[in-house]
Amino acid sequence: MHVAARPQPVTEHAPSTAAIYSQFCASCHDDGQYGAPVRGNIEDWDRFPRDRRQLLELAIAGNKAMIPRGGCADCSDEQLLELIEFVIPQSWAEQ
Ligand code: HEC
Repeated sequence: MHVAARPQPVTEHAPSTAAIYSQFCASCHDDGQYGAPVRGNIEDWDRFPRDRRQLLELAIAGNKAMIPRGGCADCSDEQLLELIEFVIPQSWAEQ
């Protein structure tokens, strides 16, 4: 018996990491506002640990102008980890 193909439900995609970054993080991390480490800038990131778990803990706790979770209160830890990959230098990529 033929089963008619049903139209795909329009699923709402979770906002991309880049979109969350633009909304919540770019105002400080694009140009180093309030002393924030500039996205991808190796010298700026030198004073931070490379360990992703440590970075996550720091980001969750916040420090100075870096408000807890970077201001994205609804971001999950997983989303924060993706955002962290997005802001740190690319050369820090894990093998
Ligand atoms: C109001 C400005 C501001 C916003 C918005 C902001 N940051 Fe930050 N961020 C900072 C500053 C300043 C530091 C440096 C803190 C320090 O000296 O320890 C920082 C540091 C960090 C660090 C290094 C670890 C830490 O917390 O110290 C990470 C990772 C980070 N930010 C990620 C993010 C992400 C992801 C977002 C968006 C969800 C975000 N930030 C939004 C200002 C900001």
